[in-house]
Amino acid sequence: MMDTDYFQHKGINFASIIYSKERFEYLENEFRVYDDDVYIVTYPKSGSTWMIEILSLIRSNGDATWCHKVSSYMRNPWLDATGDGAQVVDGCQSPRFLSSHLPIQFFPKSLFSSKAKVIYTARNPKDVLVSMYHFAHMSYVIKTPHSFDEFMEDFLQGRVPFGSWFDHIKGWLQMTDNNNFLFITYEELKQDHRGTVKKICTFLGKELDEQAIDLVVEHSSFSSMKNNNMCNHSLAPDYILDKKNNNFMRKGISGDWKNYFTQKQQEDMDIVYQEKMKDLNVKFSWDENV
Ligand code: A3P
Repeated sequence: MMDTDYFQHKGINFASIIYSKERFEYLENEFRVYDDDVYIVTYPKSGSTWMIEILSLIRSNGDATWCHKVSSYMRNPWLDATGDGAQVVDGCQSPRFLSSHLPIQFFPKSLFSSKAKVIYTARNPKDVLVSMYHFAHMSYVIKTPHSFDEFMEDFLQGRVPFGSWFDHIKGWLQMTDNNNFLFITYEELKQDHRGTVKKICTFLGKELDEQAIDLVVEHSSFSSMKNNNMCNHSLAPDYILDKKNNNFMRKGISGDWKNYFTQKQQEDMDIVYQEKMKDLNVKFSWDENV
């Protein structure tokens, strides 16, 4: 498998094939955030694709036609990358729904003086790690790991693209008191898909009847999304994803880390987690398992 080149921006690694310093500098300093924008922000492998689908379905009142005809890249374009993606973002009509993995310190500065809404979706970092480890074997935006142990070390040290999971979540949680910021977890969505969809509707000021909510839930289930080529990333270009032996829609469960971590790896990660998260006074839905 071809390997990946990284460049560093503000101390964080990014793959040169789709990211650039110029784009990051443009986004941070010049990109204009509008008050009616909605941003889906995630650390990679935390449920971005899922959240994009939920938002698209909410916007179309549960009718899946749009989601079956138009790719998720067009419905909810990615802010961060260069190339075609950047063009889609730059040509997007308001109200814009955009996606981003950017750490808060890279985000367009104009967000902080706007009324734009941000939905931040987080996931148990142990499951993020496992999901990213598999993704790294199919994607050219992450270097292929030599071993799970080595990948864990890179993850804990923040050497993977988009940097440290801990810094990412801590950075974005600074917005918790802002009414235009919604914090959701992957685990919450798994445990109460319907209730979480309703919570998102309330945040967006979108009223859907019970039947429409049912449709949003049905069409954003793992099995529906796995079979929808417009969101399962089978349309991603071959220079980004090698889809031959891998499936982006892998397992879609919480707690898969238990199938991968040794006792020692679990203990090591717990120590780092406790240390890095000790100043945060927040209880997470995965806490019993971390
Ligand atoms: P796994 O690799 O653990 O299966 P992202 O979109 O941020 O890259 O996240 C990808 C992860 O979300 C993958 O996790 C993928 O299977 C999971 N996912 C995508 N859609 C989902 C859904 N409808 N329900 C549950 N998990 C989903």
